[in-house]
Amino acid sequence: MRTPIVAGNWKMNKTIAEARELVNALRDELTRVAASGKAQVVLCPPFIAIPQVAALVKDTPIKVGAQNLFWEVKGAFTGEVAPTMLNEVCDYVIIGHSERRQYFGETDESVNKKVQAALAHHLIPIVCVGENLQQNEAGQTQAVVGAQVRAAFKEISRDDARGIVIAYEPIWAIGTGKAASGPGANAVIGLTIRGALADLYDEATAQAIRVQYGGSVTPKNVAEFFAQPEIDGALVGGASLVAADFIAICKAAVE
Ligand code: 13P
Repeated sequence: MRTPIVAGNWKMNKTIAEARELVNALRDELTRVAASGKAQVVLCPPFIAIPQVAALVKDTPIKVGAQNLFWEVKGAFTGEVAPTMLNEVCDYVIIGHSERRQYFGETDESVNKKVQAALAHHLIPIVCVGENLQQNEAGQTQAVVGAQVRAAFKEISRDDARGIVIAYEPIWAIGTGKAASGPGANAVIGLTIRGALADLYDEATAQAIRVQYGGSVTPKNVAEFFAQPEIDGALVGGASLVAADFIAICKAAVE
């Protein structure tokens, strides 16, 4: 069915030297996990460490992703990175992370442009959606997350949609140590996210798209998420920076 995908979002952590050290600590165990064919493993370092990380995992089934991209392919866009630059060294790209929405002006519209650009240049988007605490407490999760999904997939064909990965990351669970419950995340993914995808496309497409959970995933709680039928892996922040923790999380995906 859907192959789970476990991705480590390093956020703005690890110098090039530290990235090399972490990859060297992860490589053998993660190679075994990815080579089993039962899960995909992706490392998403900061831009500047991507070439180094890509070189270190080149002869392994471990994949590399970026944490953002710009939608134009070149030109006067100081400080931005183009999809044509990333696809030389990456297979994946995280788009619309809540930290980018919160601190860097990412909008539903820019997320959609970036998804289209990624697909046009053979990068697999990992599109992040999720409600904040206030929205959660006000019972707006379905409306907020459903709208984010519809906006991200605007004008994306059914065939392209199938290749997109979604990460459901409730903002209140990110970096807080307060993860969602497995059944709670499962319900949002099954009803709200797959529901929106079924409205946009059809039930078969909604069932084919991989949806990860993210937000305070640890070796301790990960089994609860991977046991849920609607959850196809995890997008891991803090625990992906600690070799033993990320290895344990990746192994849990194939157990
Ligand atoms: P934490 O795992 O640190 O909560 O971060 C989740 C996240 O934002 C991954 O993209």
